[in-house]
Amino acid sequence: MENLCRIDDETTYKRSYSNDENIYPFRQLPELGKKRKIVLLGATGSVGESTLRVIREHSDRLELAGIAAGRRAKELDAIALEFDVDETSLYSREGSDGLERLATLPDADIVLVATTGTVALRAVLAALAAGKDVAIANKETLVVAGHIVMAAEQLSEGRIFPVDSEHNAIFQCLEGNRTHGKIRRLLLTASGGAFRDRSAEELKYVTVEDALQHPNWSMGPKITVDSATMANKGLEMMEAGWLFGVSHNKIDVVIHPQSIVHSMVEFCDNSIIAQMSRPSMTFAIQHALMYPERSNGIHESLDFTQALSLDFRPPDEERFPCLRLAREAMVEGGINPLVFNAANEAAVEAFMNKRLSFIDIPNLISDTLEQISGRLPDDVDDLIEFEASVNVHAAEIIQNNY
Ligand SMILES: NC(=O)c1ccc[n+]([C@@H]2O[C@H](COP(=O)([O-])OP(=O)(O)OC[C@H]3O[C@@H](n4cnc5c(N)ncnc54)[C@H](OP(=O)(O)O)[C@@H]3O)[C@@H](O)[C@H]2O)c1
Repeated sequence: MENLCRIDDETTYKRSYSNDENIYPFRQLPELGKKRKIVLLGATGSVGESTLRVIREHSDRLELAGIAAGRRAKELDAIALEFDVDETSLYSREGSDGLERLATLPDADIVLVATTGTVALRAVLAALAAGKDVAIANKETLVVAGHIVMAAEQLSEGRIFPVDSEHNAIFQCLEGNRTHGKIRRLLLTASGGAFRDRSAEELKYVTVEDALQHPNWSMGPKITVDSATMANKGLEMMEAGWLFGVSHNKIDVVIHPQSIVHSMVEFCDNSIIAQMSRPSMTFAIQHALMYPERSNGIHESLDFTQALSLDFRPPDEERFPCLRLAREAMVEGGINPLVFNAANEAAVEAFMNKRLSFIDIPNLISDTLEQISGRLPDDVDDLIEFEASVNVHAAEIIQNNY
């Protein structure tokens, strides 16, 4: 009977959040009831702000041990004052050494990565090497360096906990299930972003201001534009591949305009488990920081005494080609996910500076993917250098051709 429900996974890297013996396979469970000390990288941003709300509300269980930000010194100082934090770092003063210093603070139990881009890559690796748990909201690090980060996690006493709401939802759906070989597919839900219902013709004329109006989520500007192009969902597919050891043909995207179902897992018996809550990052952040325990939520729950509709439909890859390009990059593997990400970053920056139109974002990604070849470096320094060169190349294409 057992084998009737077995789907072989062709990926070489296998990872399960709930193996058959232990729901927490790589190390001992954190001590239950113990106060957890948190280092927050990206404290001044949108995920950072939601994390501070969770910590403020659960100060009996969670404590801030260190905070880092990019440039906003005043905001960082205000957070340090409110939470009585001595260890702070500002990138504009210390560079990425400051992130590594904080990520390895002897006092810290868990490092929450809420920075943008791949600036925290070395800090993530340093945290894992020091045996810390890493709660990761930042997807670019896994997209670009998943092969290095997941290998580091396997050698570490620490574990990676997904904070991106879709991946945290999948983590929750997998809990308690004997998953090895039993996942038919992961279903990543997508709001569809600011332009979900715009026609292809209308997309030609949308502005930066339009793109920054997300219907359900309040997030940083880069991810909000990525949601509008659906590049964000493409990056999330790659992120899910690394986090759950699942190959591209087992990851589907479903448009769900209400953003109530945060993602789903379909098992080999065709049962689907979904995770639901109101659209607030506080749910996923709290789950990751408190795992395996739960505490009162800081946001109200869904109200089923009122009518509640949940709609689902397939995505339209014609209108949103970034999703197709991301899938193709994931299928190709190698340098392609990195190139997709670096080109997308260059494209979004140019779009925000009004130097590239919205519909040229996928065109630029496609051009860059076509022009760049090579082998994905295993060495962190080489990888960072390669990523920077792709970003520069993409910017040059914009300069010369758009
Ligand atoms: N926002 C969401 O709801 C959400 C949901 C899921 C996943 N994510 C992912 O989480 C990450 C953060 O997103 P966000 O929306 O919170 O971004 P955001 O609002 O733009 O915040 C980015 C944070 O990173 C800091 N930062 C930027 N460059 C840095 C550097 N070189 N060194 C140190 N810190 C630096 C910023 O500091 P300064 O402001 O001081 O420069 C800020 O604190 C992204 O990878 C995103 O894809 C976000």
